[in-house]
Amino acid sequence: MVGAPVGEHLGLEAKELEHTSGGQVKLFSGNANRPLAEAVAKALGIRLGQATVERFPDGEVRVRLLESIRGDDVYLLQPTAPPVNDHLMELLVLADAVRRSSAARINAVIPYFGYARQDKQTQGREPITARLVAGLLEHVGIHRVITVDLHAPQIQGFFYYPVDELSAVRLFAEYLEGQGLTENAVVVSPDSGRAEQARRLSERLNLPLALLAKRRIGPRETQVSYVIGDVAGKRPIIIDDIISTGGTIRRGVEALLAAGALPEVIVMASHAVLVGNARENLAHPAIREVVFTDTIALNPALGYTILPTAPLLAQAIRRVHTNQSVSVLI
Ligand code: R5P
Repeated sequence: MVGAPVGEHLGLEAKELEHTSGGQVKLFSGNANRPLAEAVAKALGIRLGQATVERFPDGEVRVRLLESIRGDDVYLLQPTAPPVNDHLMELLVLADAVRRSSAARINAVIPYFGYARQDKQTQGREPITARLVAGLLEHVGIHRVITVDLHAPQIQGFFYYPVDELSAVRLFAEYLEGQGLTENAVVVSPDSGRAEQARRLSERLNLPLALLAKRRIGPRETQVSYVIGDVAGKRPIIIDDIISTGGTIRRGVEALLAAGALPEVIVMASHAVLVGNARENLAHPAIREVVFTDTIALNPALGYTILPTAPLLAQAIRRVHTNQSVSVLI
């Protein structure tokens, strides 16, 4: 599918930024990823909204909007990345401030949607946190969510209001092609949950697809039981939504090597959660390159390749605001 270009400055006209309600697009940011919010504002050709988002001495979140948003179409950009609870609470408090300031619409741009891995009960007496968070966002008056690569697409259904789920697959495909990294490669899904994303990448690049059969053997431990598909003599490109501890990737790389894959693995993930032993696990000698997007703020000094999502998010905001289709971006 050929979509609209995502890498260009949008050059919005002032009148385009006016919604049919007469309101302007206003973009505010919490503290989770301010550089991304600045980049999105720049791509939209607007100034980031002025607000104070800080802490009271006891740790409570304190927000004050420093400009009027009455009647405006407000976008709050905040990935719910670690520290997840703090960033989620900032988003909720920001939304409450916006609601009480008479915005026409409140849209949450949540490039990384945390609490998503508990999307069902796998044992008795467990919560479903993805639904809980969706309900909290709804409660504070959010009308729409724009996000990137949810852990599971069915989480969209936990929201009563529209969810525009964008994907990093096109960014990954363009990067791999641009760098000439597709020769003799095989796209690998590290588990069944990522099969659809991996299929889309393999189809875009016209590459074969393999799947790792990952099995949970404890609350924090998984193992790869076998590799489905032919990876022998090929360069694997593993695609995942999240890299948290990096354990899934390390075990996946070892299973691929045991199945005869070349020790030149490229690892791509939409969201760089990176906790615990992630750095050690990603330093596996068979991993040639690790590629993330910037949905979660990431220090370039770590040496990972970072693909910018601001053009994509800005396009989505522009299209939502002007009542155009967002699906062309996916
Ligand atoms: C699992 O279903 C996810 O898609 C990721 O593969 C997983 O959350 C990554 O976690 P970790 O890096 O801790 O293995």
